[in-house]
Amino acid sequence: MKKRFITTEFTEADIEIEKGLRPQYMAEYIGQDKVKNQLNIFIQAALKREEPLDHVLLYGPPGLGKTTLAAIIANEMGTNIKTTSGPAIEKPGDLAAILTGLKEGDVLFIDEIHRLQRTIEEVLYPAMEDHRLDIVIGKGPGAKAIRIDLAHFTLVGATTRIGLLTAPLRDRFGVVLRLDLYNEESLCEIVKRSADILKVKIDDAGTMELAKRSRGTPRISNRLLKRVRDYAEVKTQGRIDLDTANKALCLFEIDEYGLDETDRAMLYMIYDHFDGGPVGLDTLAAALGEERDTIEEVYEPYLIQRGYLARTPRGRIITSKGCSHIGVSPLNQKEEQMSLEELEDTIETAKNR
Ligand SMILES: Nc1ncnc2c1ncn2[C@@H]1O[C@H](COP(=O)(O)OP(=O)(O)OP(=O)(O)O)[C@@H](O)[C@H]1O
Ligand SMILES: [Mg+2]
Repeated sequence: MKKRFITTEFTEADIEIEKGLRPQYMAEYIGQDKVKNQLNIFIQAALKREEPLDHVLLYGPPGLGKTTLAAIIANEMGTNIKTTSGPAIEKPGDLAAILTGLKEGDVLFIDEIHRLQRTIEEVLYPAMEDHRLDIVIGKGPGAKAIRIDLAHFTLVGATTRIGLLTAPLRDRFGVVLRLDLYNEESLCEIVKRSADILKVKIDDAGTMELAKRSRGTPRISNRLLKRVRDYAEVKTQGRIDLDTANKALCLFEIDEYGLDETDRAMLYMIYDHFDGGPVGLDTLAAALGEERDTIEEVYEPYLIQRGYLARTPRGRIITSKGCSHIGVSPLNQKEEQMSLEELEDTIETAKNR
C-alpha cells in the first residue's frame, strides 16, 4: 500500500522538525483546555506540597501531543524525564534498571504503555503504589526475593489504545486524561506558531486552509505546513496564501476537509461493497488491505468526528453526510428511514407473492 501523505507515523525528517516545534512549557501548549486546566492545578498543588505529581495516564489518537505533554509535565515540575516505551522493556530486569536509576521527583515516561508485558506490569504495580521493587534473583531452590526502595517518581503513561490497558494498571494512575482532536481555531494557532519558528511566510487565509485540512491533528498541521512550504518555494517565492495552499494540497490529493485517497476509498468501499454497512472492522480491514488497529486508531476517529462514518453495535456504517462527501446518494439511509406504512406494505407484498 502506498505511503500516506497524512500518516501520523514518524519519518527521520519528521523527528527533526518535531524537535524544534515541540512546545516546552504549558503556556506554549495550544488548545486541550480541559486537560491543561486540570494538569495545571495538580502540578501547582504538588509543587506547593513539595511532593511529586501523582501518576498520569494520557490517551488519545496519534499526533495529538501526548509525548509533548509528558515533557512539559517534567519541565513544569522542574524535574528530569526518562523516556522509554512498552515494547522496549523486554525483561523485568530492564524495568528494574530504569526504576532504580530514577531520582526523587523524576518523571518516567512510558510510551505505548498498553504494550507492556504482564510480567513487567507486575513489577510496576508495587513501584507505583509503594515505591518499592520486589524482584526474584536466580532460579529454582536458590532463588532469592529481594526488595529495593525506590525514589518517589511520577509515571506518565501514554497510549492510543486505552481499551487494551489492564484494569489494575489503569487504576494505579491518579490522573487519567483524554486528548481530543483539535478544533480549527487551535490548529490555526499551531500552524501560526510553527510558521513563525520555521520562518515561513503564510497569511491568515492560508493558515486557515491548512488548519481545516489537518484532521484535527497538530502533527499533520506541521507536516502540511512543511510540504506546502516546499511547493511555495518552487512556485511563489515562498509565500503561502489561500491559492497556494489550495493548489499544493490539491496536488497532494488532500481534499477540502483533509481526507485523502485512502479515506475516500474506505468510505466508498463501505458504500459499494457492503451496501453502506454495517460492516465489521475485521472485514473492512481485510477488504482494504489495512491493519484493523490502523483503521481504528488513525483513520476512523476523524471520519467519525466529521460525521462521515458511524459506529454501530453491528459495525461501521457510512452516514448520509459521508455519502454526499464522496458524491453518491445515500441509499442505505433511505431504507433505514422507511416508514411503518411502507414497511407493512412491503411485508404484505412479500406475503402475496
Ligand atoms: N498543543 C500543542 N500545541 C502546539 N504544538 C503541538 C501541540 N500538541 C502537539 N503539537 C505538535 O505536534 C507534534 C506531535 O505531538 P506528539 O509527538 O506529542 O504527539 P503524540 O500524541 O505523542 O503522538 P503519538 O501517539 O504518535 O506518540 C509535536 O512535535 C508538536 O510540534
Ligand atoms: Mg508520542
